Amino acid sequence: MLKGTFPIEKFEVLETPFYYYDMALLKETLEVIKAESGKYGYHVHYAVKANANPRILETIAAQGLGADCVSGGEVQAALDAGFPADKVVFAGVGKADWEINLGLDRDIFCFNVESLAELEVINELAAAKGKVARIALRINPEVDAHTHAKITTGLKENKFGINLSLLGKVLDTMQSMNSVRLIGIHTHIGSQITDMSAFRNLAIRMNEIQEELESKGLQVENLNFGGGLGIDYYHPNHLPIPAFDNYFAVFKKLLKLRPGQQVHFEPGRSVVAQCGSLISRVLYVKEGEVKKFAILDAGFTELIRPAMYDAYHRIENISSDEETDIYDVVGPICESSDVFGKDVELNKVHRGDFIALRSAGAYGEVMASQYNCRKLPKAYYSDLL
Ligand code: LLP
Repeated sequence: MLKGTFPIEKFEVLETPFYYYDMALLKETLEVIKAESGKYGYHVHYAVKANANPRILETIAAQGLGADCVSGGEVQAALDAGFPADKVVFAGVGKADWEINLGLDRDIFCFNVESLAELEVINELAAAKGKVARIALRINPEVDAHTHAKITTGLKENKFGINLSLLGKVLDTMQSMNSVRLIGIHTHIGSQITDMSAFRNLAIRMNEIQEELESKGLQVENLNFGGGLGIDYYHPNHLPIPAFDNYFAVFKKLLKLRPGQQVHFEPGRSVVAQCGSLISRVLYVKEGEVKKFAILDAGFTELIRPAMYDAYHRIENISSDEETDIYDVVGPICESSDVFGKDVELNKVHRGDFIALRSAGAYGEVMASQYNCRKLPKAYYSDLL
């Protein structure tokens, strides 16, 4: 199978593990997003949570995308990277007062509000500043994303969003609030969604929600569908850019927009996953009774997705062309869950070989930890090596 192209001679002098970003692929992906969303005038806010590396953020901001943030730290990182405040949206079930105040002070585009309790606090804090906060209500559309349980969010009894049955109450209470203005409806049904029917259902559901709102005399200017478009973890070389054309076309086809309504999206993974790899060296090849273990110098501290979500990441031995063998690929962390893959077919592995863990650009670097007193790894970029 094809291997990603990596400048191995340049890797020789670098301390492993590290994240490697293919900046040409990132830019190409951004071009596709701009072209495909631009066809319909859709607004795209990159979900900063997927990767908040400053250089990655700056590259995305420079292409004119907005930012979707879930903490004050992310709002600050987005603004520092050059995202204009009027393209920043701010979600999250637990916004602290200082985080709300930061959003108010910087006049961000919109707070995506997840509960009545939060709405009351935003109203109070905005009033104290003599401002009116633009808000969108995050609604649970009850659309099944058919994805991993830990990353499904659009169903009932979730900590996220407001259940439709409670919407009437929220709207009634809002009548008496003078410092918030409802400008939109927000939804997000889950992540790593590869089955387009989930998005079809979401678009259709939004039509119903709109009708329900209109029966209460309400029409909003903005509809935000969150993120969630999945990527192909199995074929990062063959299919490096997700099918943004199909994705946006689903909404174009099914959504019934009212005059002047604006459509927003918050993709994270689909923007950055494929441009990033975690590069590690083999420390030891350990021969067990039946198994062979390739023990890497990277562990779940650098890429937690396999341990946390049983996620698959393609693993390549980029140093070897020798005949393949079968290995359990593991890290050095003192936890039995520190396994990147079992029974993985790799070109014969030697101590010192470079191993690439692919599709690590999303939820890789940003979820790194210092467990076991490990150092946070550096990042390198294809255009700066
Ligand atoms: N908008 C909201 C409100 C979200 O909660 C998320 C992701 C996104 C947008 C971006 O979703 P994306 O396009 O990346 O699917 N750490 C997990 C993924 C957690 C996603 C949380 N929310 C993983 O590694 O799979």
